[in-house]
Amino acid sequence: MSSDERFLSPVELSDDKGIVNLRPRSLAEFVGQSRTKQRLEIAIKAAKKRDEALDHVLLSGPPGLGKTTLANIVSNELGTNIHTTSGPVVEKQGDLAAILTSLERFDVLFIDEIHRLSKTVEEILYSAMEDFQLDILIGKGPSARSIRIDIVPFTLIGATTRSGFIGAPLRNRFGMVLEMDFYSNEELTRIIRRSSKLLEVTTDENACVLLAERSRGTPRIANRLLKRTRDLATVDGSGTITAETVDETMKMLGIDSHGLDSMDRKILETLVENYNGGPAGVKALAASLGIEPETISEVYEPFLLQAGFLVRTSRGRMSTDKTYGYLGKSRKSSTRPLW
Ligand SMILES: Nc1ncnc2c1ncn2[C@@H]1O[C@H](COP(=O)(O)OP(=O)(O)OP(=O)(O)O)[C@@H](O)[C@H]1O
Ligand SMILES: [Mg+2]
Repeated sequence: MSSDERFLSPVELSDDKGIVNLRPRSLAEFVGQSRTKQRLEIAIKAAKKRDEALDHVLLSGPPGLGKTTLANIVSNELGTNIHTTSGPVVEKQGDLAAILTSLERFDVLFIDEIHRLSKTVEEILYSAMEDFQLDILIGKGPSARSIRIDIVPFTLIGATTRSGFIGAPLRNRFGMVLEMDFYSNEELTRIIRRSSKLLEVTTDENACVLLAERSRGTPRIANRLLKRTRDLATVDGSGTITAETVDETMKMLGIDSHGLDSMDRKILETLVENYNGGPAGVKALAASLGIEPETISEVYEPFLLQAGFLVRTSRGRMSTDKTYGYLGKSRKSSTRPLW
């Protein structure tokens, strides 16, 4: 992990990939997201029974919740190959055409960050998804002509952290649009238990719960916290992760019992102290903190909103009673929100 990487980032960091692969390989192993899993399970069975390609699937949700994992599971369950690419990598129509023509029947094409596909590339997906046909332009200028070629039936799985950036023409071509939610602490506890087994470390039940509470609803963070806690258990010689090991590791990492780090706390303190609890615009807040507005809205805010430490209003960000309780401060009565 390099120094500019934030430990609690839900985005994949350099040392997330370990020797042991913690990704579940089947729907049965995949914890949580029960509605999403159920819809996929039925659709997969039906597609197999009808001997058809599975409907195209759009997976949306914050980083680290298991979109890439699910795409791989779907292809495993279908018993087909998966071809993986990502929005910014596919630069030209020809790049995508080459991938589409290389697919075998019923294969999965996984396009990560699909909201970052260019408009021209996206356009050739329309007929590919709908009719399994490609319209390719041959030649240039007045002599250019379009030819149509057939491709095999396939399943497109798109993943996005920004579903709002996907226009209707693309979105409407997905048979299933599945939104992933943050995980409950109980689900994260199960994920930590499973990962402990795979990492061959004994983790006390209490320790599993404590780790889950600090994982910000995100399996990727749960696994990362578990690995760092395991390091300490290895170094201190016990080899077992207890509540004390978790406490000590969290102290070293500067993570508190809610899973907040020093920047989260600074954001909440600034809102309460400089803006009387808000409302404050993201730009103003970012300027006070000396960070980019996008960093607040994309990196810090999603979890603070989900955990009820912030609310988003038309006039800006507001703190909540939970924020005041957390900071141990009382709200001045005149600044109570009207709603
Ligand atoms: N339901 C789950 N059960 C167990 N482990 C999970 C689950 N979902 C995710 N994980 C673990 O969390 C890690 C992150 O998941 P994944 O890479 O699939 O997230 P993602 O949604 O694709 O994130 P990004 O938006 O950054 O691409 C995986 O390596 C996997 O080990
Ligand atoms: Mg991913």
